[in-house]
Amino acid sequence: ISYYEKTDEIIAQYTCEEKSLIPIIQGIQEEYRYLPPELLTYVAEKLGISEAKAYSVASFYENFSFEAKGKYVIKVCDGTACHVRKSIPILEGLYKELGLGKKKHTTDDQLFTVETVSCLGACGLAPAVMVNDEVHPKMTPEKMSELIKKLRE
Ligand code: FES
Repeated sequence: ISYYEKTDEIIAQYTCEEKSLIPIIQGIQEEYRYLPPELLTYVAEKLGISEAKAYSVASFYENFSFEAKGKYVIKVCDGTACHVRKSIPILEGLYKELGLGKKKHTTDDQLFTVETVSCLGACGLAPAVMVNDEVHPKMTPEKMSELIKKLRE
């Protein structure tokens, strides 16, 4: 089913009012792993709120992404605890291995997205990396490289 039909299904689960915006766009992001801007506009129209308002709500929450992300979203923690336990070599290793960098976050095959975060709430396990919803403790560049190989299989 099309993009818009799927969105209609999600919209239909909620009442047609402004406070449904967040759960609806969460549903869209779960479905597509990001929030396509044209769907945000579509939802705004359906709920009768302005596009500008919908954008400001969606941009306020860090969790919404307007760009497509890879199948595996890797978050390298660079908070203090992780930084002092050498998170940067992990990040640099990933950039090198995947051909990514500060400006390019997602591989062309849409398999991996690499981001940094400022704390994963797992400081005792530093340096920590999160892959989708799973935290990987005490990471090293070598272990990271192994993990990438495994995820590629
Ligand atoms: Fe990395 Fe808290 S600083 S988990």
